Amino acid sequence: MPKITPRSLSTNSHLPFGDMQNSPFYGLDIITVKQFDREQLTYIFEVAHEMYEMVLRVGSFDLLKGKILANLFYQPSTRTSSSYTSAMERLGGSVIPINNVSYSSVTKGESLPDTIRTLEAYADVIVLRHPEVGSSALAAKYAKKPIINAGDGIGEHPTQALLDLFTIQEELGRVDGLTITMMGDLKYGRTVHSLARLLSLYNVRLYYVSPENLCIPAEIQDEIAAKGIPQEYLTDLMSVLPETDVLYVTRVQQEYFEDPDQHEALKGSYMITTETMTRAKNEMILMHPMPRVWEIDMAVDDDPRAAYFRQMEYGQYIRMALLAMVLGKA
Ligand code: NCD
Repeated sequence: MPKITPRSLSTNSHLPFGDMQNSPFYGLDIITVKQFDREQLTYIFEVAHEMYEMVLRVGSFDLLKGKILANLFYQPSTRTSSSYTSAMERLGGSVIPINNVSYSSVTKGESLPDTIRTLEAYADVIVLRHPEVGSSALAAKYAKKPIINAGDGIGEHPTQALLDLFTIQEELGRVDGLTITMMGDLKYGRTVHSLARLLSLYNVRLYYVSPENLCIPAEIQDEIAAKGIPQEYLTDLMSVLPETDVLYVTRVQQEYFEDPDQHEALKGSYMITTETMTRAKNEMILMHPMPRVWEIDMAVDDDPRAAYFRQMEYGQYIRMALLAMVLGKA
């Protein structure tokens, strides 16, 4: 029987037999949208579209049979965590779910690098959501296996932005030439931080609508301005709604407010109703990363322009594509 030697343990586990080690995405960490260019995005969307067609045709298939994903969530999640589980299982792989770190050794005081090194001994890829900005980059520094950032505090949520952009591409057929209005908590909302950066690779116009103290961070505005993208900040939606092609709404991120009174005062700042929708283009799409709290009245759900439930389904295909790609199978 072959002996297990220290050298044969996990060090080479990035290179299992049969994988496409030449694929540009093989073994890649997904930490920030800044790592992508347009060509790569087109490729990801092509693979995601193929995943959609395969799910439609056969439901699930064995592309990642035998592969294991560790889903490590230090913050609450419904869509992100379950879409990764369903993506992995539809591809024939399996999942170690750690959705409640209070039942893991984290409560014994284990550090993030140690938890990551533990999970990579058992899994081929790790999806991480953590309250601190930079946590995924830190995890990637220690891990030999791919780390996928599923939200690092108020930093980024790159795979949400990929699925958001994929939604726009699939629903409107293009991204260039569109006017995109982001509304809500643009200060703490990591999904808008990633999406605004990703959109700056295209020829778009961006409007930001938020209360003054929930404005998109200056650092992100500067990055986008450096790409020559027109951006404008407003406190009222109505003047820009008629020319908007994509209205992207976010909730006020209660968990990051130190003062609960401030959150109370801001939480109902904006609400999309059926009346609001009468002022929007017929071809506009209304998006939301979810969960929604106050921002979109449920009566709007029946409007065909309400794309937020379709948007979450697109997320499954994007995540199938990303898992297959970083594991060298696409
Ligand atoms: C978002 C998040 O976690 O940042 N949710 C998600 O992943 N779909 C948005 C939010 O929580 O408001």
